[in-house]
Amino acid sequence: MPERKDGIESPTARGLDERALKYTASIAYDRRLYRHDIAGSIAHARMLAKQGIIAGDDAESIVRGLEEICEEIERGDFPFREELEDIHLNIEARLNEKIGEAAGRLHTARSRNDQIATDMRLFVMEACDDALLAIRGLQTALLDLAEANQGTIMPGYTHLQRAQPVLFAHHLLAYFEMLDRDSGRLRDCRLRADELPLGAGALAGAPYPLDREFVASELGFSRVSRNSIDAVADRDFVIEFQAAAATAMMHLSRLAEEIVLWCSDEFGFVRLADMFATGSSIMPQKRNPDVAELARGRAGRVYGNLMAILTTLKGLPLAYNRDLQEDKQPLFDTVDTLLPTLETFAALLPALRVDGERMEEAARNSYTLATDLADYLVRKGMPFREAHQTVAELVRYAEGDGKPLSGLSLEEYRGFSPLFDHDVLALDVRASIAARDVPGGTAPSRVAEALRTARERLKEDA
Ligand code: ARG
Repeated sequence: MPERKDGIESPTARGLDERALKYTASIAYDRRLYRHDIAGSIAHARMLAKQGIIAGDDAESIVRGLEEICEEIERGDFPFREELEDIHLNIEARLNEKIGEAAGRLHTARSRNDQIATDMRLFVMEACDDALLAIRGLQTALLDLAEANQGTIMPGYTHLQRAQPVLFAHHLLAYFEMLDRDSGRLRDCRLRADELPLGAGALAGAPYPLDREFVASELGFSRVSRNSIDAVADRDFVIEFQAAAATAMMHLSRLAEEIVLWCSDEFGFVRLADMFATGSSIMPQKRNPDVAELARGRAGRVYGNLMAILTTLKGLPLAYNRDLQEDKQPLFDTVDTLLPTLETFAALLPALRVDGERMEEAARNSYTLATDLADYLVRKGMPFREAHQTVAELVRYAEGDGKPLSGLSLEEYRGFSPLFDHDVLALDVRASIAARDVPGGTAPSRVAEALRTARERLKEDA
């Protein structure tokens, strides 16, 4: 096949083996970067004209042509061609068809290496913004659910054994904190992604009087890269996004696991809304928490995506290597997993039916007040270690008798320590919760305050 006259080097034009062509082409997935790629090209063309590197007329027709191409792609009219390898060459070839010779001037002072690095950074910054918004949506859903169930008491767990009574709202606020840290990680990732690679050329910079700051501000970057080799070789921002997303998915998976447990008959703490409960093809009674299970399962895929990019980068010599093309599919997959997981959970939570009575009963009908009994003895002067021992014996006694702590008489209490008095009979889950009146504790006033400040923090972040 002859070289294309328009100067767009098509790999097939250079006689690339058909299998090699298919093997190296990325257009099937990197077409997703078309908006970022076109934005980068428009900014680049304007800068080239401003600096007198190309003629103003040429830049104008380049920009107009690119805008039309963007519309074509959005309408689904764009003739994507695999033999043109990637999104960059597809757009450039189409531009050539539209405006002719001037199209060939767009790639002046630019390489696909700094171009793709720019596209990827724009994509990651946008993905951070989208994820931050979706996290805020889920945090709002958590706060709404917590507020709607402010008085609800549940057993808090350690080792999945009932441990101490807590407010359900307090438990939900734990997830608010996790998501808050996820937001922090994404904001942090965005800060470091926010750096313009264009101008780095293939790796050494470009022999033209470029105005990189201009391109940066056109594209919304707050600064330009400081080393051209690093600019084309670096994908740390992809790793950081993957790591932040993996951590967020881990949190969502923990929440998912709790939802799975809570809506089992064994717990019976919540009931999924019909809209979020899936049936079984054989067992008519089933209300399966498939959404939660898939979120739990997909966390694994996102972890895999993090491993993939780490492994791709490991051992790569500077600067650009084609291996870097492998950064895209796992990144897209992570974005396409994280965002719907956040959005679906934000819809699922408000539709949960919370069985507060059942939760409170679970908190009462076990020995979750044992720590409070020990603290009771401590307040009467007993050292904590001794109190711990005394209550352990008391619990063993009650257990042996098949009684809850509330079923013991004062005489029985006194049999273990003369320090027990009438007021020990007043101890219940509410008193236990109210007593935990420390910053970050589960006392109702603390939780109400935590809910208020959580709302404010959300507003500040918006
Ligand atoms: N498709 C390539 C990628 O995604 C674009 C850069 C290609 N550069 C090159 N020298 N072949 O990384």
